[in-house]
Amino acid sequence: MPKKIKFNEPMVFNDSKNYLLKVVNNKVFADGEFQSRSEKKIKKLINCESVNLTQSCSSALEVSMILSNIKKGDEVILPSYTFTSTANCVLLRNAKPVFADINVNDVNLDIKSVEKKITKRTKAIIVVHYGGVSCDMDKFLKLKKKYNLILIEDAAHAFLGKYKNKYLGTIGDFGAFSFHESKNIVGGQCGALVINNKKFIKRADVVLDKGTNRRSLGKKNYYSWQDIGSEYRSPELSAALVYSQLNNIKKIQNLRKKIWINYFRDLKKLEGKIFYIPYIRNKDKTNAYHTFPVIFNNIKIRDKFIKFMRQNKILCYFHYYPLHMSNYGRKISKTKLKNTEKVYKGLVRLPIYPSLSQLQVMSIIQKFQSFIKKNSYL
Ligand SMILES: Cc1ncc(COP(=O)(O)O)c(C=O)c1O
Repeated sequence: MPKKIKFNEPMVFNDSKNYLLKVVNNKVFADGEFQSRSEKKIKKLINCESVNLTQSCSSALEVSMILSNIKKGDEVILPSYTFTSTANCVLLRNAKPVFADINVNDVNLDIKSVEKKITKRTKAIIVVHYGGVSCDMDKFLKLKKKYNLILIEDAAHAFLGKYKNKYLGTIGDFGAFSFHESKNIVGGQCGALVINNKKFIKRADVVLDKGTNRRSLGKKNYYSWQDIGSEYRSPELSAALVYSQLNNIKKIQNLRKKIWINYFRDLKKLEGKIFYIPYIRNKDKTNAYHTFPVIFNNIKIRDKFIKFMRQNKILCYFHYYPLHMSNYGRKISKTKLKNTEKVYKGLVRLPIYPSLSQLQVMSIIQKFQSFIKKNSYL
C-alpha cells in the first residue's frame, strides 16, 4: 500500500538542530545572535536595507499599518482572496478594508478593480503576490504615485520571488514575509518586515520594541516608553530555525522549483475542458514556487477532485474562503467580486515541498491525469 502523501512538510536540517541547541545552551532567548544574523542574511539575499525579523507576517503587516499612520476614517484596498491577516491589520487601526477583485489568470489583484475603489479616504494598497508570483508592480507603482498612496507588499508566499530585477517585498514602501511552518522558509511561527521607504525606519525600532527606545539608548542607561508598539520581534528559537533554513535556501528553492516545473510540464497538456493553471509565462516575473494551484470549472468538480485524490491518499486543499463572503467580512462589506468568487469555487493546491520525492510527484500527476480522463466528458 503506498503511503499517504502529505500536503506539506517543512524541511529540517542538521544545522537546525545545532542552532536550536546553541540557543538553549547560551540561554539567550530574545534578541540574540540568530535574530541579527538572519536579518543580515535576508538583507543580502534580497538586496535591501532594512529587515526586522517578526513573530509572523501578520505582525509585520500590523507594524506597517502603524508606521503608515493608518487610522479611523482611512481606507485600505486589498484583495478578498487572501488570509485574514491582510485585512485584520487594517481593522486593528480602526480603518476600513476595501476589497478589490483579482485576475482569474494569475489570482493577483486586478489593477482596474483597485483603481475603481480609490476614494479621497484611500491611504494605502496592500498587494498579495499569490503563490509567490508577482503582481504587475509597475502598474501599482504608477497608481501609488498618481494618488499619493502607501504601497505594502504582502509577500507571505513570495520570499525570493522577483519582479524585473527586484526581489518581491523590496518594491513597495513595506514588504511582509511569512516564515510560518507552511511556507518556503520555516521558523515555526515567524516572519519579517522589510522597510523600503527610509522615512519609516527610525520609528520602526520603537514600535517593534513595545513602544520603547531600547535600541537607541545613546548615553542613557535606561529605556522608556516613547510611542505605541508591541512585542513584534521574533523569538530567538524561531530565528535560529530561520537561519538554518536560510543557509540551505538554494537547496529548498531548487527542490520546489523542480516539482513546480514537473507539474506544469505535464498538467499544462491537459488544460482545457475542466480546469486551467492560473499562471502566465512572463519574463519579468520570477516565481518563488510557493504553491501549485489549478482552477476547476466549478465547486462540484473541485470537491470531487479533492475527494478523489484523498481516496488515493494524496492530500490537496482549496485555499482562501474569500474575506468579503465570510461571516465577519459581510459585516464590513457588501461588495460582489466576480473573479474572486469564481477562483474560490475552483482553486485547488497540489502538494509542493522539498521532501516530496520524484516518485510521489509522478504518482500525483498520474492520478490527476486519470481524474481528468474520467471527468472530461461528463
Ligand atoms: C497572503 C497571506 N498573508 C499573511 C499571512 C499570515 O502569515 P503568518 O502566519 O506568518 O502571520 C498568510 C498566511 O498564510 C497569507 O497567506
